[in-house]
Amino acid sequence: MDNVTAPFARVFRRGFFFLFAQRKTFEVFKTSEVLSECPASVGMTRCADKAPRVTFSTSSRKHLGKFTFMQNFDRKEHWEKIYGTKSLNEVSWYQPVPTTSLDMVKLFNLPKDAKIIDVGGGDSLLVDHLLELGYTNVSVLDITENAIERAMERIGANSQHVKWIVADAATYVPNQQYDFWHDRAAFHFLTDKTEVNHYIQAISKGLKPNGKLVLGTFSTDGPLKCSGIEIQKYSEKSITEMLKPYFEKTNCFTINHETPSGSKQNFLFCSFQKFH
Ligand SMILES: C[S@@+](CC[C@H](N)C(=O)[O-])C[C@H]1O[C@@H](n2cnc3c(N)ncnc32)[C@H](O)[C@@H]1O
Repeated sequence: MDNVTAPFARVFRRGFFFLFAQRKTFEVFKTSEVLSECPASVGMTRCADKAPRVTFSTSSRKHLGKFTFMQNFDRKEHWEKIYGTKSLNEVSWYQPVPTTSLDMVKLFNLPKDAKIIDVGGGDSLLVDHLLELGYTNVSVLDITENAIERAMERIGANSQHVKWIVADAATYVPNQQYDFWHDRAAFHFLTDKTEVNHYIQAISKGLKPNGKLVLGTFSTDGPLKCSGIEIQKYSEKSITEMLKPYFEKTNCFTINHETPSGSKQNFLFCSFQKFH
């Protein structure tokens, strides 16, 4: 490009990007919450038995904008695709026995009727083990129907003893209080400060006084991404600082998770107690 046309090309390019940036502001999303006992998206056959404790809460984002050029990352779509295409033991976070999480349950000596929620539980085997240990009040929340459906199918008839919740943790508002809130490898996907704050407040609202919280995130020595998405890594200091307004730290430690492909991911597990 010669010296005469180059400046025009630069201006044109800038204008083009400016236009894109402007267009992006026209992207308007509306979040709608649908609460029903058996939405069609989960499959009427599965709900035909009218399992009384199975409740779904589906958050969906409706695209109202007309001028979208740049699509925002749709986290629900991303996770639906993962669970729609990869099998249980193909994903990097797979654990045949979630030993660390189960050890925490033991450590807290939770009674069998304790209200437990596993947020971002996906189709993790934690719920299977909790049921096997005799826990009767377990909820699993995940952003994807695909993961929840897989877990329900795997567990079979016992799945009616679990409360399944499809919701985005970034906007979820619990409508009951739990004794134990567990989150392994979901919290660290929230990288937006507003969403992180919302989630921490949701945990605080959703835990009983003195309720227990376990967060398993990538440590500062952990990977930069998981499942192709940027994550937020935490140190004991940074996570404790963040939760300080509502929770007292009980314990933190790091542990290597070996993925099915044999690589190591360094996790930070921290437990907290909600202030009375
Ligand atoms: C890395 S996997 C961990 C799954 C499970 N906790 C385990 O340890 O095997 C992350 C899980 O979090 C879910 N997830 C990601 N972002 C979420 C969000 N904003 N709200 C609810 N679930 C989310 C994904 O669908 C996925 O099941």
